[in-house]
Amino acid sequence: MKGIILAGGTGTRLLPLTALTSKQLLPVYDRPMIFYPLNTLIRASVKDILIIVSPGHSGNFLNLLGSMFRKFGVNLSFIVQKSPRGLAEAYILAEDFLDGESSTLVLGDNIFEDDFTEAIRTFEKGGRIFAKEVSDPERFGVVEFDENHEVISIEEKPIAPRSQFAIPGIYIFDKDVVERAKTLTPSERGELEITDLQRYYLSKHMLDVRLIEGAWFDTGTFESLFEASVFAREKKLGDRSHPMINEAIREFNAEYKGIVSLKK
Ligand code: TTP
Repeated sequence: MKGIILAGGTGTRLLPLTALTSKQLLPVYDRPMIFYPLNTLIRASVKDILIIVSPGHSGNFLNLLGSMFRKFGVNLSFIVQKSPRGLAEAYILAEDFLDGESSTLVLGDNIFEDDFTEAIRTFEKGGRIFAKEVSDPERFGVVEFDENHEVISIEEKPIAPRSQFAIPGIYIFDKDVVERAKTLTPSERGELEITDLQRYYLSKHMLDVRLIEGAWFDTGTFESLFEASVFAREKKLGDRSHPMINEAIREFNAEYKGIVSLKK
């Protein structure tokens, strides 16, 4: 199982915060946002991870993460997405990296309290998505499912949702997703849609869904970014991260301070 973090995009809803840096490098309490999706994957034992970034911010990602996890056995790769053509483009960009393996894709601005180890370990083939009951499902992809967690329908931002269950930004697909993504055409909003990939697996009866536990934040707005920071502070999400991540941050900070004091 390989991992992908989608950390491109334009972050227009967070302007001017995102004028000079990437949304996924903005702080969520005590660390840049990207460490939360990294934690989601690393704590589920996914250690081969591709980070997809936008052209203007690739240098910043490399400066922060380029060699941070090298000695911990986590292999981070980076690829630039020239323009934000949609979430499903991730699989086309990741073709060589995936090399025929299954993958877990996490959106770089999604923060989860839940642990996905079991969901990833037990995945065999097809697709697996997740669901979280929300009060405003019309803002998200919405999934309807039966008592066996077989998906019945998927709708993107429906006016009249068939369920209260939103689909959060974490998706597990088998190797076929790459070829399927290549066949997609852009939607009305000009993007290659991840929902079209989910619908493909649904049409093959190869899509299941699991409920997530705990909090989930999509930190794309000022309000949700602020709420996520408050939550991270109150629940000590940083301290509860995988120890390797906290050790890597400590070492990065020590090295950084060393360089700064040499310059003085
Ligand atoms: P969005 O929040 O839908 O888009 P955005 O980040 O560009 O923000 P805004 O709507 O405010 O302009 O994206 C969800 C996540 O997916 C986010 O982490 C950025 C990432 N993304 C990409 O990496 N490439 C893409 O083509 C798109 C559409 C999103």
